[in-house]
Amino acid sequence: MKKKRIVTGDRPTGKLHIGHYFGSLKNRVKMQESGEYEPYILVADVQALTDNFNNPEKVRRNVREVVMDYLSVGIDPEKTTIYIQSMIPEVAELTVFYSNLVTIARLERNPTVKTEIAQKKELFGESVTYGFLGYPVSQAADITALEGEVIPVGEDQLPLIEQCRDIVRKFNNIYGEILIEPEAVLSKEKRIKGLDGNEKMGKSLGNAIYLSDIEEEVNKKVMSAVTDPNRIKKDDLGNPDICMVSYYHNLFSTQEECKKVCQECREGKRGCVACKKQLAKNINETLEPMRQKRKYYEERPELVDEILIKGTEKARETAKETMKKVKQAMKLDYFK
Ligand code: TRP
Repeated sequence: MKKKRIVTGDRPTGKLHIGHYFGSLKNRVKMQESGEYEPYILVADVQALTDNFNNPEKVRRNVREVVMDYLSVGIDPEKTTIYIQSMIPEVAELTVFYSNLVTIARLERNPTVKTEIAQKKELFGESVTYGFLGYPVSQAADITALEGEVIPVGEDQLPLIEQCRDIVRKFNNIYGEILIEPEAVLSKEKRIKGLDGNEKMGKSLGNAIYLSDIEEEVNKKVMSAVTDPNRIKKDDLGNPDICMVSYYHNLFSTQEECKKVCQECREGKRGCVACKKQLAKNINETLEPMRQKRKYYEERPELVDEILIKGTEKARETAKETMKKVKQAMKLDYFK
């Protein structure tokens, strides 16, 4: 059976954290290893610039950081094609063509874009840029240029895939059945909360554990995690249901361990410090092989470059094929 093509990606605006790991990376590795797919991962530098246009250095630096995060968790460049978005000019070209098929009102109604604009008042002031408002169009170009069929996403990305499908249908209606309508596959993984109990783990919130954090950093961060506020002394009976340490034990510790720490907490038999130490140890055990792998690539930057150059070349071949078909359908193929 023909393997289904996956297209996913991340904006390179910071290193990836354990929220990314449980939310998407782990699933990407699993899908890669299943052998049922042909996965592509794009480092969305153009998209990152839509709200970091005034900080190109940050985007540039994080391209390699994010790629090393991918490699460290087990994304295998032999099985998954990793490439840089801005190095596929066909994607920019497609974005222009698609922009005729999208109304301003439809973009303004996109719940993801709407939420993000509200969060970025400081950057955009009273009026959002054309580029930011239109980034779903560019994302539709990312997906369709590569003929992506399956797009594994978190809940927040669903409206973007829906918008992409709208564009595809409209394009195919007007110009002929050229584009593939992608299917969003909602990842079952839930969003990971931050160390402070915030619903979201994120760099700007200062509540994240990064995949590349060293051991001491993890120890320190776990010590700062929010626990049951009513438990002051060890003898106080604790409530693990409102404790971030217990929440992370569920992600990093065995079921048996989780049961034990929760029970001892409820009975006031185990103090928070001991519980945190055990959690930190388990997190470090999970992260250690990733750190080792990352170190390997950090010491060999030319290998990372080679992976990106090869990946980009391969992605571009497909994008060129798509562009040929698109131009033909749009009557833009002037000289055969
Ligand atoms: N919008 C995605 C994010 O912020 C990144 C992205 C860009 C993407 N292009 C894509 C995801 C294409 C899936 C498919 O995480």
